[in-house]
Amino acid sequence: MDKRRNITAILGPKGGVGKSTISANLAIALSGMGKKVVAVDLDLGASNLHAILGIKATPKSLSDFTQNRVETLDEVILRTPLGDLGIICGGDDPGIANMPYQRKVKLIQHLSSLNCDLVLLDLAPGASHNVVDFSIIAQQSLLVTTAEVPSLLNVYSFIKSAVFRRLTFFFKQKRSTQLLELLNRAMESENHSHLKTVDGFFQEACLLDPSISDSAKRMLARLRPIVVINRLRTENDIKAGEVIKKLLKEYLSIDTAVIMTIRDDDAVGKALARLRPIMIDSPDCPFCQDIRKIAFMLCRRQQELSTRACIVKYKRKHMPAALK
Ligand SMILES: Nc1ncnc2c1ncn2[C@@H]1O[C@H](COP(=O)(O)OP(=O)(O)O)[C@@H](O)[C@H]1O
Ligand SMILES: [Mg+2]
Repeated sequence: MDKRRNITAILGPKGGVGKSTISANLAIALSGMGKKVVAVDLDLGASNLHAILGIKATPKSLSDFTQNRVETLDEVILRTPLGDLGIICGGDDPGIANMPYQRKVKLIQHLSSLNCDLVLLDLAPGASHNVVDFSIIAQQSLLVTTAEVPSLLNVYSFIKSAVFRRLTFFFKQKRSTQLLELLNRAMESENHSHLKTVDGFFQEACLLDPSISDSAKRMLARLRPIVVINRLRTENDIKAGEVIKKLLKEYLSIDTAVIMTIRDDDAVGKALARLRPIMIDSPDCPFCQDIRKIAFMLCRRQQELSTRACIVKYKRKHMPAALK
């Protein structure tokens, strides 16, 4: 099985929206469902995942791997008393966030081959090179935001740049200079208003190269972002999901986004102050109920992705090209 199918990235445009809290507790929820999980703190230089999991001492960390003190990433997994859950703590050496590219490639290779059912990557805020490089190996991504309009707009821009990055990569791979030029024009959409939406872009792209633009459309249709709106307080906050869905559909032609919500819950801060994971401290609180819903959804999607991959593999192997 392709191990990449196991990786879920937790990311988002802003700090302080709950990425690490969600990563830690999702990891516990998934291990409680019988999965073998490894949670990896990749907020390099600002790591706190271990503290949310209630781990005080970190005898080994990512630094031991990036500084070549150990051979494999497996050696820096800390076992926790929380079911079959291991954690890779963030490194503490000052240069870790700017590790040389070759070292990052090695880390990515080892992350992709960790021996477990699910790997959760707790990433730094924003879309720095590190975040992009690590999130690219993930099969699923949870984009975490709060319900405030500026945060929602940030998430929209975040998904928009992911769409443009994928299209750029795709057209480069297909060596289609004319579609790359069109894409560059679309990126400056203030000057080309008909290219402002992905739909507008494809209308023009189809005239230039119908075959490549059709495959690009199919590639984008497979994008199914999961947006997690955290710290919901009011009924009105729930509408935030509709806002983001509408933006994604209208401008990016994405109508497959999944919106999940997590309620604001005082129990989260209380558990943190006691240095105990909230999943253990108050397993039935609203926050934990919402986290478990996300854990179920992730498992279901992972199952779907594996089934789809098996079908594609089977077709490649056994069916004549005409029937595929
Ligand atoms: N649903 C929630 N209800 C209450 N507090 C929360 C919730 N989610 C996160 N927090 C709090 O928000 C703060 C930031 O969370 P954190 O996970 O560190 O954010 P990030 O990793 O995105 O920087 C923490 O103090 C955390 O306890
Ligand atoms: Mg964090």
